[in-house]
Amino acid sequence: MKPKVFIAKPIPQEVEDYIAQHCEYKIWNKEEAIPKSELLKEVAEVEGLMTPKGVITKEFLTYAPHLKVVSNIAVGYDAFDTEAMRERRVIGTHTPYVLDDSVADLVFGLLLSAGRRIVEFDRYVKEGKWEKPLDSREFYGKDIHHATIGIIGLGRIGEKIMKRASAGFDMKVLYHNRSRKIELENQYGVLYRDIDDLLRESDYVVVMLPLNESTTHIIGKGQFELMKNDAVFINCSRGKVVDEQALISALQNNEIRAAGLDVFEIEPIEKDNPLLKMNNVITLPHIGSCTNNTRFDMAMTAAENMVAALTNQTPPNVVKELQDLVK
Ligand code: GLV
Ligand code: GLV
Repeated sequence: MKPKVFIAKPIPQEVEDYIAQHCEYKIWNKEEAIPKSELLKEVAEVEGLMTPKGVITKEFLTYAPHLKVVSNIAVGYDAFDTEAMRERRVIGTHTPYVLDDSVADLVFGLLLSAGRRIVEFDRYVKEGKWEKPLDSREFYGKDIHHATIGIIGLGRIGEKIMKRASAGFDMKVLYHNRSRKIELENQYGVLYRDIDDLLRESDYVVVMLPLNESTTHIIGKGQFELMKNDAVFINCSRGKVVDEQALISALQNNEIRAAGLDVFEIEPIEKDNPLLKMNNVITLPHIGSCTNNTRFDMAMTAAENMVAALTNQTPPNVVKELQDLVK
């Protein structure tokens, strides 16, 4: 008998076909998120759950007594209670690697857009405000090439950002990471800094950290105060690594120049968030990995992880906190 699974969002047909070879499945085929009550009903009988964002708590697990694997269609898994999952021996998997380049591309999109004020001036032209001569100082932005970029979190994605910055834009690259990456320092000439020095020296500050207890609000008032008044701040990782109130104040008080944001403390962003009123802030709806190819690869990777876990193989991408469950 094939194991029963539930897929909590629409996925490409080819991925569905692959799952069908190995599992008996039901799928939530609507674009809007599945309501929690519906999800709790669906997981009652299944051994596998594939989901865009597994909010897996102790309580949730009581509704899913047969569950063996939660396969996140995402690299982040900050909503997994890994302790509760270990207790129940539920494996958690995610989709690293396949999205790294797409997220790094978007970081650069934000960097370019914020530095050269692309989004701001697009709006300006379309609103019929272009009456000034071409060289008006009001149009001046900030160079990207040869500027200093500070990357906080030189993981897989951070490394891709570093390569774009140093090879493509001749930037001086500083990084901060829990562990030093000596090989990358030697190969690319990137420089390690403690966080404070990185913040003081960088023209562009990029955070690329997974969200956990030690990274929550790692960037707050004190950190914005250290940044240059001309600094551009970019976040495509998780909203909660930044104290958003402190970011808003820093922007309101001209302590930094601009921000490019793909993530927020509350998503979707609340309609009265002051960031929405700021011309020097670019706000995107958490689209770091949203390209056709990458979204396909993420769905397929998530399916392979789930099928492996249910057919007595070791899934390729078990989250690091739960790797002991598959040893
Ligand atoms: C997106 O934010 C992801 O975690 O994949
Ligand atoms: C992202 O969180 C990474 O590991 O680079």
